[in-house]
Amino acid sequence: MATDRFAAWAARSEATLESALPSPDLAPRRLHAAMRHAALGGGKRMRPLLVYAAGTLAGAAEETLDVPAAAVELIHAYSLVHDDLPAMDDDDLRRGRPTVHVAFDEATAILAGDALQTRAFELLAQADAPAQLRVAWLATLAQAAGAAGMCGGQALDIDATGGGQALDELERMHALKTGALIRAAVRLGALAGAAGPDALTRLDGYAAALGLAFQVRDDILDIEASSEQLGKTAGKDAAQAKSTYPALLGMQGARAKLEELADAMRDALAPFDARAEALRALGELAIRRSH
Ligand code: IPE
Ligand code: IPE
Ligand code: MG
Ligand code: MG
Ligand code: MG
Repeated sequence: MATDRFAAWAARSEATLESALPSPDLAPRRLHAAMRHAALGGGKRMRPLLVYAAGTLAGAAEETLDVPAAAVELIHAYSLVHDDLPAMDDDDLRRGRPTVHVAFDEATAILAGDALQTRAFELLAQADAPAQLRVAWLATLAQAAGAAGMCGGQALDIDATGGGQALDELERMHALKTGALIRAAVRLGALAGAAGPDALTRLDGYAAALGLAFQVRDDILDIEASSEQLGKTAGKDAAQAKSTYPALLGMQGARAKLEELADAMRDALAPFDARAEALRALGELAIRRSH
């Protein structure tokens, strides 16, 4: 069952993160505690699961995938800490707990995000893997996290607040702020195995569709789900006049987009045999998830 593998992979990921994060007993303790608050014991671990699913499909050993899986989750955790800051989405609930700037303070949240990010690259640089693979991992993750990826998408999100975005601009914003890191997760895994150029292209097509779908679903859930269900404040997008798929296309249009993306994922994975079962299940999860 795919779900049994997901639980095992999530546990591996939790263990790697736990050992990669600095001890809360060592100074600066407040910073270390904030980093651990942000990264441990919560979240769906979607990006690590994608690293393991793509990596094992490409023939990599799970042990090889532990570091890239943890690294992409560290970048994701940092992006959430900063996304929640008063200067950005100003949220006080994340993963069912107070956000880092609420549980600690704003300066600590900024620093915790910074330190989570740099720890991700440090882990990759020090991984027990060939130098060529480590460099490819570093370049992939750095590009996905930066101005051409997640940070760029977050900047577009801020620019678009208040509305007036065209559909192609909205798609580009989603592809960057959420899609880039999800694509990187799949690529980090695929690079660790023996995926050839054709397989990499197909996997990237799958990941691009999944990344977009993940944010479309996030936007739908912001409207339809409760804060308890989400572990973060529901209804924020409308309250802050965010540019989203449901805002631009309506709920029906957003749902139609999800079905279109589900088809794109299926097509991209079609040539792979049962080895792609985990990726197919993660694609379904991204589209049907309830939190
Ligand atoms: C939330 O990501 C932010 C988006 C990019 C949509 P997730 O829904 O993966 O959040 P966690 O990791 O499960 O908390
Ligand atoms: C966040 O998008 C994307 C990131 C890069 C963190 P959202 O702002 O919609 O994420 P949530 O809804 O706060 O998790
Ligand atoms: Mg945001
Ligand atoms: Mg937000
Ligand atoms: Mg959201």
